[in-house]
Amino acid sequence: MYRTNSCGELRISDVNKEVVLSGWVQRSRELGGMTFIDLRDRYGITQLVFDMETNKDLCLKARSLNREYVIQVKGKVAERSNKNLNIPTGEIEIIVTELNILNASEIPPFTIISDTDGGDELRMKYRYLDLRREPLKNNIILRHRMSQETRKYLDNQGFLEIETPVLIKSTPEGARDFVVPSRMNPGEFYALPQSPQTFKQILMVAGYDKYFQIVKCFRDEDLRADRQPEFTQIDCEMSFVTQDDILNTFEGLIRHLFKTVKGIEFPGIFERMPYQEALEHYGCDKPDLRFGMKITELTATAKGKGFTIFDNAGYIGGICAKGCGEYSRKQLDELTEFVKKPQIGAKGLIYVKLQDDGTIKSSVDKFYAAEDLLRWAGQCHAEKGDLLLILSGEKYHTLNALNELRLEMGNRLGLRDKNIYKPLWVVDFPLLEWDEETQRFYAKHHPFTSPKPEDTDKLDTNPGEVRANAYDLVINGVEIGGGSIRIHNKELQQTMFKVLGFTAEEAERQFGFLMNAFRYGAPPHGGIAFGLDRLVSIFAGLDSIRDVIAFPKNNTGRDMMIDTPSVISQEQLKELSLKIEPNPKS
Ligand code: AMO
Repeated sequence: MYRTNSCGELRISDVNKEVVLSGWVQRSRELGGMTFIDLRDRYGITQLVFDMETNKDLCLKARSLNREYVIQVKGKVAERSNKNLNIPTGEIEIIVTELNILNASEIPPFTIISDTDGGDELRMKYRYLDLRREPLKNNIILRHRMSQETRKYLDNQGFLEIETPVLIKSTPEGARDFVVPSRMNPGEFYALPQSPQTFKQILMVAGYDKYFQIVKCFRDEDLRADRQPEFTQIDCEMSFVTQDDILNTFEGLIRHLFKTVKGIEFPGIFERMPYQEALEHYGCDKPDLRFGMKITELTATAKGKGFTIFDNAGYIGGICAKGCGEYSRKQLDELTEFVKKPQIGAKGLIYVKLQDDGTIKSSVDKFYAAEDLLRWAGQCHAEKGDLLLILSGEKYHTLNALNELRLEMGNRLGLRDKNIYKPLWVVDFPLLEWDEETQRFYAKHHPFTSPKPEDTDKLDTNPGEVRANAYDLVINGVEIGGGSIRIHNKELQQTMFKVLGFTAEEAERQFGFLMNAFRYGAPPHGGIAFGLDRLVSIFAGLDSIRDVIAFPKNNTGRDMMIDTPSVISQEQLKELSLKIEPNPKS
């Protein structure tokens, strides 16, 4: 028997028991004639004691052990004289009588402690060592619990977990597909699913009215802290439902997770905000509602006083930073640099300081009288001691920059507390999005999303104005999930493909299977998918999803541990009828 107990299990009530433990050497200390070793496994740490006086050979053997050796010990549980009340096993120790080295370890490239000295790339290369660290272990356990609770909740609600294929045909979710060549069909490719979207709709046609799956999805897109090329969705679909049915059912799932995993209950229902309102007041479709600092439009009041930048702007908007009225030149310069960063792209920043002594100071006081500045302050609900920050330009570009500035001020003022959770449904998304570059409409969500019935008429005349029965769940400024009521009518689906610029043949080639299915009695249906990685990282209080994934990719999409993507052999290429162009980089 390798062990009678885990390293996290023994307590003062176990004193005098004979036990066998196995685990890794976390650290060892020598104190006079004694050697102490912290033995670690998934469950915790237990202190082992070796005494030079009572058993010299054993103690010398213990002193030969290095960090991360795998050992097995036999011994007796004893009460510790020097208790460590910070760990659950801290009142006891094991007086060791037998020591077995199960496996030696080389010196690890970084120390296996919570605050490790290993850089990101090194940690990813030796992920098996990184995963031994307490914070990562806790994330993996948290993820497991959230998956299990998700299954429990959905099973209770009558959902069936159904697997869908991984080798499929392209699904248009807006990113590039990863493709897999088919050996048996030379020159032909599968695509890895960006989501199981079409399959879950087909399951609805097949009569499985409540489906879910915790499923890997693959998207070849530029990576960010909250994006991985392969990630996991809690993917769901229901038949015979309205938008409200879906929001209620899945709000229930999120509440269940918060309650069972974090012990948090939310009063009332989650706030619901139309997309347009989110844009106008927060400058984005995923507002962080942990703090106010709403955007106020100042276009009408700020124009026409001879300040050319404002006079030429399509939109002028500001935010009020409470208690920042005494910001220094340096602080304001930093904010100006911030909004001028290429990814934000503002030309400059205008400020109005409502100083503590009642005076007003502004970068535009040459152009505006004190009453003008006070009027803006009134509109933005600013008072003595506050700071107004104002941007101008093209409307949506400026709103986007104001969003970034608002989040930056939220960070600076400590208003984005990771222990506070503000869930929000953003609803009434536009159905389509115009792309200037390609001069065509794209589906804002995906091409299977249903227009609002009252807007359907505008599909031919004014497609840009059509709103969709589409919704996102946002928590603390992160898009956690999104979905929609679907089109279930063949003709409407064909119209949608037409608006998106597909010819009838293209639509048939790509989605003929779905439209065929719609010919045989498709029920009204809709659904949602949550990003499990994002949900877990929010629960864990992390900014990146990497550390809630056991084996993530780095930001160039590379798995550092198994070192892939990698080249394949000439034989494999030949078998797949593939020829590789010389790499332009090499
Ligand atoms: P959508 O594309 O909005 O919808 O994806 C749903 C959720 O998946 C998460 N997500 C990601 N997480 C990590 N890395 C990524 N690269 C990534 N991309 C998306 C987000 C997002 O909200 N089929 C539809 C759902 C539906 O209509 O039912 C879909 O995939 O949290």
